[in-house]
Amino acid sequence: MINSRIIGTGSYLPEKVITNQDWEKRLDTSDEWITTRTGIKERKWTTAEQATSDLCVEAGKRALAAAKLNPDDIDVLITATITPDHAFPSTSCIIQHRMNMRTIPAFDIAAACTGFLYGLEIARNLIGSGRYKYIMVFGAECLSKITDVQDRSSAVLFGDGAGCAILGPSEDPQRGILSFNWHSDGSLGKLLIQPGGGSRNPASHETVDKRMHTIQMLGNETYKHAVSKMGQAAVDALNAAGLTGKDVDVFIPHQANLRIMQSTAKRAKVALEKVYITVDKYGNMSAATVPIAMDDAVKDGTLKPGSILLLDAFGGGLTWAAAVIRW
Ligand code: COA
Repeated sequence: MINSRIIGTGSYLPEKVITNQDWEKRLDTSDEWITTRTGIKERKWTTAEQATSDLCVEAGKRALAAAKLNPDDIDVLITATITPDHAFPSTSCIIQHRMNMRTIPAFDIAAACTGFLYGLEIARNLIGSGRYKYIMVFGAECLSKITDVQDRSSAVLFGDGAGCAILGPSEDPQRGILSFNWHSDGSLGKLLIQPGGGSRNPASHETVDKRMHTIQMLGNETYKHAVSKMGQAAVDALNAAGLTGKDVDVFIPHQANLRIMQSTAKRAKVALEKVYITVDKYGNMSAATVPIAMDDAVKDGTLKPGSILLLDAFGGGLTWAAAVIRW
């Protein structure tokens, strides 16, 4: 199978900043509680006019520039999101049109916070088949649009943003995605759910009154599964690549909570200083979190050619996945 690597990244974050002090004014919470329990200090939120595709188009342009490619070069477009512009058409089709791409296959995937990693694995296998050369994978969310602003236990966690990675074939077999694992356990789906708006509970006055169109999370239970599943996925991905935690140069876990990230690093025996942190300034952006952190790490020089990068994510479904990449 032809191996693939990430040849360009881009990201876009909305301008509006929501600080912990802003939440103190709206809810019975404190900067001290949010900081010590989650590591979050602020997050970016879209305006009423902005939707997920708007963020993606900007992130996509930046990724194309970084990869030195044109929209015409892209063979497949995948967007991981749980906050699409509409239930249909897909956000990917909207991006395909707005970025003037050819009539390439374009589709969304819904694997919540693990979505970007799921997209990477799909892209890797499509490129591996030899039938497609360049694939654009977005992880993008406007979680502010489905946040229950009256629920202090979840409202303070979420932010908006879009990240994009372009994958292409790797000429050097030592470079690129070295190992990957991905999982699901639907029996735990109710831990993290947006119950209203689908075919089970179609939108009605009742679903709106009961706040069923927002994120509902059993934080404590979710926390325990996040630590154990992300830890195991990281260990498995390292083993499959023939590496250990000591070999990791940069660890980018899904950024839901600083304590989950640190516990996962300990389980995978990765030194805490290798953990790349963005949760303090962006909060939890679900599928957008990993690609935005990757783009930041490229821009600030943390990720260099040859770096061993460990990616690890966990979210609704439940879903979880990990990858080892030689950058
Ligand atoms: N401000 C102040 N107090 C708050 C609060 C807030 N924003 N949110 C909750 N509390 C209170 C609770 O009401 C509870 O009070 P009580 O003890 O009087 O009942 C107390 O803080 C502890 O609540 P708990 O839910 O046990 O806190 P926690 O330490 O588990 O932290 C989360 C809550 C959400 C930060 C944490 O559970 C978490 O990060 N969960 C996993 C998130 C995740 O991984 N999601 C999956 C990927 S998206």
